[in-house]
Amino acid sequence: MTYIKDLAKHEGQEVELKGWNAQKRDSKGLVFMTMRDGTGFVQCIINVEVVGNDAFEAAKRLPQESSFSLTGKVVKDERQFGGYEVQATSFQVIAEAEEYPITPKEHGVDFLMDNRHLWLRSKRQWAIMRVRNEIIYSIHRFFQEKGFIQMDAPIFTGNACEGTSTLFETDYYGEPAYLSQSGQLYGEAMAMAQGLIYTFGPTFRAEKSKTRRHLSEFWMIEPEMAFYDLKMDMDLIEEFIQYVVKSVLEKCKLELGKDVLDRNIEYLEKVALPFIRIKYEDAVSIIKGEKEVNGKTTLQMLEEEIARLKAEKEGLLKEIDEREAKINSGELKKGEVNFNRNKVDQLKNQLKDVEEKEQNIPAWLNSARNFKRGDDFGGSDETVLTKMFGQPVMVYNWPQEVKAFYMKEDEHDKGYAKGVDLLAPEGYGEVVGGGERETDLERLKHKIIEHDLPMQAFEWYLDLRKFGNVPHAGFGLGLERLVAWICGLQHIRETIPFPRSYGRLLP
Ligand code: 4AD
Ligand code: MG
Repeated sequence: MTYIKDLAKHEGQEVELKGWNAQKRDSKGLVFMTMRDGTGFVQCIINVEVVGNDAFEAAKRLPQESSFSLTGKVVKDERQFGGYEVQATSFQVIAEAEEYPITPKEHGVDFLMDNRHLWLRSKRQWAIMRVRNEIIYSIHRFFQEKGFIQMDAPIFTGNACEGTSTLFETDYYGEPAYLSQSGQLYGEAMAMAQGLIYTFGPTFRAEKSKTRRHLSEFWMIEPEMAFYDLKMDMDLIEEFIQYVVKSVLEKCKLELGKDVLDRNIEYLEKVALPFIRIKYEDAVSIIKGEKEVNGKTTLQMLEEEIARLKAEKEGLLKEIDEREAKINSGELKKGEVNFNRNKVDQLKNQLKDVEEKEQNIPAWLNSARNFKRGDDFGGSDETVLTKMFGQPVMVYNWPQEVKAFYMKEDEHDKGYAKGVDLLAPEGYGEVVGGGERETDLERLKHKIIEHDLPMQAFEWYLDLRKFGNVPHAGFGLGLERLVAWICGLQHIRETIPFPRSYGRLLP
C-alpha cells in the first residue's frame, strides 16, 4: 500500500491506495474521485473501459466519505492538488457511507461545530491540524536542541496562578481542587532542579464569554530559566517565535498555499526582523494617538484602514454581481453554475468579514482615544498597536496592578513589573506572556496577601526563595493563539481538534 504523500516517488508506476471519497463528479464513462487518505488528497480517474462496468458503476454511485481502495498509475499533473493524479486500473468499495452531512457547499459555523468530529476531515481542517502538528514538533525541537528539559506540571492544583476569577473548581476527594491555569509555579520549582525547563500541557480557564481568542481548555508551553533576567527572556521569546514560524513556512507550504489556507505570508516572513520592544507607557502613548510611529498616529492609520476596507467591499460586491448575473443568464453548464454558486457563497462570507472589520473600527478608535493609562490592554488596543508596526511587538514593564503576583518589580522603575507580552500583528494580539519573577521573599508574601490568595497554599512556592534563591524568568506561549496567527484564522475554535469554550462541551 502507498500513501498519497509519497506519490512523487512512484511517478509512472502502479500503486495501491486506500482512503475515502472526499468529492466526485462524473462525465461520459469517467468518474473523477478525489481520494483523501489522511496524508493528502489526490484526484483518481476511474474509466469504465479500464476497470469494467461493475466497478465503474460502484464508483459512480459511491456516496461522499465512503471508503475505498484502488490500484492505478501515478501520473504527473501540475494542475492537480499535490501535483499528481492516479489513473485507476481497479476499484473496490470498502464501506459505503450514509448521506454525509457536510457537503462541498458552504455551511454555518454552528452546524460545523456540532459536526466537528466529521468536519476535521475537510481539507481546510486537515491542513490546520497539520500546521498545528508542525508547530508542536518544532517547539520541542527548539527547546530540546537548546538542552531544556521537558517537565509535566500537575493538572489538579491546590492554588491559583493567574488570579482566582478564571478557576475551574473540581471535587478532589471531598476537597476543592482547581484545574491548572498555568504550570509556571511548578516550572519554577523544576528550573531550580534542572536549570532550563519547559512545560507543554493543557491549561484551563473559565472564560465566561465567547471571543475569537479564548478557549476554556488550551495548550500552553512554558519555559522557565534559572539565572535569566527580563532582557534574556525577551531575547529567547524572539528567537523561539522566529524559529517556529520559519520552520512552519518551510515545511507547510502546501497547507498554507493558495489551494487550502491561502495564507498571505508577508507578515509571517517579517518575523525574521528584530521584534519591536517598547515599554508599556510608550505603547499607551502610541495607542492614544499622542505619539507617532513612522510619522503617523493611530488616528491616521485607522482612517486609511477604513478607506482600504471600503475599496475591498466595493470590489467584492462587484464580483458577486457579475457572478450572479452569469448564473442567472442561463448560458452556463451545470458544473459552471455550481462553481459560481460556491464562489458567490465564499465571496459573501468574505464580504461579511470585511463589513465586520469596518464596523469594528469606530469602536477601536473610540477605545484607543479613551484608553486609561494604567489599564491592561484589550483586544482592540493590541490590534491598533500592532497595526502601527505590522510586525511582532513586545510590550514590557507593565503597571504592577495589572499583572500577576509573581512578577518582579523593576528596581529602576518603581510601580512597574518586569513582565512582557508578545503581540502578534494582523489583529492577533497577545500570543506570549512572561517576565522575570519576584525573588524578594517579603515582597512576594506581601503580593500574595494583596492579591487575596491563600498563603498556606503557596508555602511550597515560597520555599524556592528560601533555598538557593536566584534571578529567573520564563514565559507562556498559547499554542492555539499561535496556530490561529500562523494559519491566518478568524477564530481560535478551528485551531484545536475539539475546542472547549463557553457553551460548548460536545462533540
Ligand atoms: O499571559 P498568561 O496568562 O501567562 C501565564 O499564564 C504565565 N504563567 C506564563 C508564564 O510566564 N509562564 O498566558 C500565557 C498565554 C497568553 O499569552 C495566551 O497566548 C494564552 O496563554 N492564553 C490563552 N489562550 C487561549 N485561550 C485562553 N483563554 C487563554 N488565556 C491565555
Ligand atoms: Mg497574559
